Amino acid sequence: MSKIKRFTPILAFIVTTIFALSACQQEAASTELNLLCTPQVEWCEGMKAEFEAANPEITVNFVRMSSGESLTRLRNEKDNPQFDIWWGGPIDSFIAAKDEDLLEAYDSPNLGNIKDPGLMLDPDHTWAGVYVGSLGFATNQNFLDENPGLEPPRSWDDLLKPEFSGQLMVAHPSSSGTSYTALCTVLQMRGEDAGWDYLNAYAGQVNQFTKSGSAPARFVGQGEAAVGIVFSHDIVAQIEAGAPLVLTFPEEGTGYEIGGMGIIKGAAHLDAAQKWFDWALEPATQELGPKYAAFQAPTVNGAEASMPELLDVNLIDYDFQYCGENKTAFVDRFTNEIANADSLKE
Ligand code: G6P
Repeated sequence: MSKIKRFTPILAFIVTTIFALSACQQEAASTELNLLCTPQVEWCEGMKAEFEAANPEITVNFVRMSSGESLTRLRNEKDNPQFDIWWGGPIDSFIAAKDEDLLEAYDSPNLGNIKDPGLMLDPDHTWAGVYVGSLGFATNQNFLDENPGLEPPRSWDDLLKPEFSGQLMVAHPSSSGTSYTALCTVLQMRGEDAGWDYLNAYAGQVNQFTKSGSAPARFVGQGEAAVGIVFSHDIVAQIEAGAPLVLTFPEEGTGYEIGGMGIIKGAAHLDAAQKWFDWALEPATQELGPKYAAFQAPTVNGAEASMPELLDVNLIDYDFQYCGENKTAFVDRFTNEIANADSLKE
């Protein structure tokens, strides 16, 4: 028998074994997904339940954390990542995370669903936009009634009125993406020099900084302060729940967020993270928000916005790249020169 003939059955055995092993590996799909979830906890809970219903073999374990806290956590866990995917919170933080090599690129088959890829998709596919929301002001109606003639703020300068002294509530930009969006909006609208002067004055009006971005809408609804700077959909959610709030926008222009999503570099459950990523870019998934009191606008074609009027306001041409790249520096400056983050409410 020639050497080649003797070798053939051995080769066939090796090839079959390799195929069998790789088939085994494919079968061993992840049964868990560790999700870092930044939007309101009610929406995170809803998304977990919906994803598990669509993927019964996977259990989602999620932790709700604000944007800045999430970024710090991912940075600290870089060598031993505990989360598989990060869903929600303004993309400024995803741009910062990408710069620190914390995100894994993924060519989801659903990237083609995204309405405006130039704005809503990282060119290297490390993050994708999953919702859009504008910044607004929430004013307590009872406070207005008690101060006849006082109007809810309709410009950034209105926030500096003496009547609102000690009556503003906003999150701290070190923990919150909402607050960072407000900070970077002001810096873009006024330029950095005048912008920092304004931020200094605005911080002087603040009653207390909160940790989470949406919390001021709740506290202002409860009468703990007169005005909150919050994403407009969070104000709507409180109004729908019965809070006495008036929603206004700064007429000269307001900032907005694109909520992001990205797979964590080194994710232990990469296959499950990719399933979530694909699923989050389905139109039906993006229409689930209102079921869980989330009125952000979708980013994919085929999904209808529940409250399109929230984006039909004077939005600035927000430069996400500028705000993402400078996030650490701007937050450090705010913390060191304007207000530290020692005692944040919630
Ligand atoms: C709320 C908003 C989201 C936003 C998030 C940011 O949950 O509804 O649209 O992305 O805040 O959270 P953070 O606590 O970082 O401001």
